[in-house]
Amino acid sequence: MSEKYRVVVVGMGKRGMHHAQAFQANSSFEVTGICDVDAARLAAAAAKLKPAVQGTDALDVALEARPDVFCFCTLPQLRASMIRIGIASGARLIAFEKPIALSSAEAMEIRKLLNDSGVLAVVSHQHRYGEHYRKVKEAIVNGALGRIHTVYGTATGWMMHLLSHLIDYMRWYNGEAEAEWVMAQAAGRGKLTDAHPSPDYIAGFIQFANGVRGIVESGAGAPDVPEVEYWWRKCRIGAMGADGFAEVLTGGGWRVITRTQVGAGPGSMNYDLDMPPYIQDIANWLDDPTQVHPCNFGSAYKGFEIMMALCRSAAHGGQVALPLTEGADELALLAARLPDRKVLCTPGATAKEYG
Ligand SMILES: NC(=O)c1ccc[n+]([C@@H]2O[C@H](COP(=O)([O-])OP(=O)(O)OC[C@H]3O[C@@H](n4cnc5c(N)ncnc54)[C@H](O)[C@@H]3O)[C@@H](O)[C@H]2O)c1
Repeated sequence: MSEKYRVVVVGMGKRGMHHAQAFQANSSFEVTGICDVDAARLAAAAAKLKPAVQGTDALDVALEARPDVFCFCTLPQLRASMIRIGIASGARLIAFEKPIALSSAEAMEIRKLLNDSGVLAVVSHQHRYGEHYRKVKEAIVNGALGRIHTVYGTATGWMMHLLSHLIDYMRWYNGEAEAEWVMAQAAGRGKLTDAHPSPDYIAGFIQFANGVRGIVESGAGAPDVPEVEYWWRKCRIGAMGADGFAEVLTGGGWRVITRTQVGAGPGSMNYDLDMPPYIQDIANWLDDPTQVHPCNFGSAYKGFEIMMALCRSAAHGGQVALPLTEGADELALLAARLPDRKVLCTPGATAKEYG
């Protein structure tokens, strides 16, 4: 490739700046357009990035800059509308943040928009690039754990922030297996109106088609991870097999324990380390269609579908079969069904986050 891929980034908050700076630092890309509705944020970002095009309207910026990559890092209430803008801009690839949508209905709409247009998409579950996350993957792939029977993930943070991360890495550890059904319970209405709207606590089971069982918990009732100080990184994700187990703590390294070996090491989620390879894999996919990005939309969709199925089960009871065939608004289902009782928090630092 001789010319650089042109990138537009919309939303110059925390994650937008991470993305823009990682694109700018990669020799395959140049950030040619940026957008934020907040003029002060836009000006601050423009001073750093010096894009050819800037503005407060995403469609105007995208149509003027005509990017190869349309990236948006807005809060979760803006997804399908930004996908439409990305497609209208003529971009070949859309890079955006988790969660992919706020409902299965919106996720299905986005899937159709992408399928119909042929535009590629990646979703930022970039923890996969962390060395400590990879140590666990290595132990699974090299057979050290034997046949995997269980994958699990817990996070004290709430669903729309963290559950799609947990499920994505559990699916990765489980070879991206399809899910057959889920069953869940949820509690607490406090975060239903948050910018990342969620039940305060959701916990459930996933039956994967390869026989592996998934167990997830996210929110106020999830167990503390006492090994980790930083609250948002109190996440534990792992796999158990016939011969041992391995797990990563988002802010506390990794450990592998098998019949023949005991290993452990450091590591904490680090945007500076995770973003460059995530962005490089975007260039690789654009250069060569066979080098599909590990964080491709199709994979993220399957994780999100599991998350929405868990919500449906929590709202209606019983098992929910996958794949979902009809769209729904799962947060509305939960708002209609969740009991009006304050969530019970696990000990530790969690209670102050849930009021
Ligand atoms: N992958 C990760 O590790 C990770 C970490 C943190 C956050 N996130 C996700 O990233 C997303 C963004 O989070 P953040 O912390 O960067 O948020 P933020 O609030 O810092 O930034 C969002 C920006 O979008 C701008 N914006 C809002 N509406 C807009 C519009 N219509 N057009 C242009 N700009 C608009 C806002 O003014 C703001 O500057 C969320 O979905 C969040 O869940 C992911």
